[in-house]
Amino acid sequence: MAQSAESAGSAGRNNDKMLAAYFDCPGGPENLYVKEVIKPHPGEGEVLVKVSASALNRADLLQRRGKYPPPKGASDILGLEAAGSVVGLGPGCKGRWKIGDAVMALLSGGGQAEYVTAPEGHLMPVPGGMTFVQAAAIPEAWLTAFQLLRFVGKVEEGERVLIHAGASGVGLAAIQLVRLAKAIPIVTAGTQEKLKATANAGAAAGFNYKNEDFSEKVLAFTQGSGVDLILDCVGGSYWEKNLACLSTDGRWIVYGLLSGGEVHGDLFARLLSKRASIHTSLLRSRDKEYKERLVKAFTEEVLPHFSEGTSPRLQPFVDSVHSLHEIAETHRVMEENKNIGKIVIEMPASS
Ligand SMILES: NC(=O)c1ccc[n+]([C@@H]2O[C@H](COP(=O)([O-])OP(=O)(O)OC[C@H]3O[C@@H](n4cnc5c(N)ncnc54)[C@H](OP(=O)(O)O)[C@@H]3O)[C@@H](O)[C@H]2O)c1
Repeated sequence: MAQSAESAGSAGRNNDKMLAAYFDCPGGPENLYVKEVIKPHPGEGEVLVKVSASALNRADLLQRRGKYPPPKGASDILGLEAAGSVVGLGPGCKGRWKIGDAVMALLSGGGQAEYVTAPEGHLMPVPGGMTFVQAAAIPEAWLTAFQLLRFVGKVEEGERVLIHAGASGVGLAAIQLVRLAKAIPIVTAGTQEKLKATANAGAAAGFNYKNEDFSEKVLAFTQGSGVDLILDCVGGSYWEKNLACLSTDGRWIVYGLLSGGEVHGDLFARLLSKRASIHTSLLRSRDKEYKERLVKAFTEEVLPHFSEGTSPRLQPFVDSVHSLHEIAETHRVMEENKNIGKIVIEMPASS
């Protein structure tokens, strides 16, 4: 059952109420505030999670501006991911989770609140030794990167993968997943500090798109053959450079439009001359069954690599940790492209 952000009124908080990040009118970060709302109840096959930490995504910024409404039936509270403890089970749950389990959840909304409900198949166990803050940095970014590489791009050993916005939440996850697939990650980013972070995460090469032509650099690095796969969240402004450094039969996956979606030029002719393909991908609007398959595959193939003693060992990158009451500030940090990795939001200690 989707949770409602209906106001809980001015009476003191009781067990039916909780705090959540909220906005009444679309607009800037100043519209955000913490609101007392009705606590959700788990529906058929759903689990109620007491949230310890959530994280911020570009989708939250778009939704706040009124440009990315939640899918039908989803919570109108912000937050696409959360980590916390299981505190309730809806009817029909199949026994995968029990009260007290530490979990992280992929959500269609509602994560930036003290409680959230999620289908039981959209939860994953928090890897041993990991804090809730670290775990909150995993679901949306890592499942997006995993989906792009494994389900859409079908990356293979030895392939060269160009990852734009390499120091973003998704980018730093993608670098590590490319290494896990024994392929070669190459990145772009806008500052030297960000490029350093991508190198630490495993990037074989990185180029500052602000002061060098990344396509020339990528061609030089790959000795003229180009990359087999491009993970592109930038869109319009990169199309020519992407095509210039894409290999014959290369795959170009567009999953974000940070620079806009307009293309002016002979895109089809350039694409055809390389027998290249364009794919697009959105995770949030995927149906429940698809997300269950994705979460299951990630849990089996990737999650064990977050534990100590594994090689390569994967790690979530946390840029900064903020309290729920600093929600407006978190949006400003992301909007100014300041973060390296994930911005995590902790729930109030008293909750
Ligand atoms: N399709 C999906 O299912 C899905 C799911 C999750 C996320 N996404 C998309 O994935 C992207 C990354 O998300 P995130 O939350 O990981 O982002 P993030 O951590 O906020 O990082 C985004 C980075 O992109 C770079 N950037 C911003 N505008 C740019 C522009 N015009 N040209 C080039 N680079 C630009 C900035 O880094 P620099 O300083 O390096 O420029 C910025 O810090 C977003 O576009 C998001 O919408 C898509």
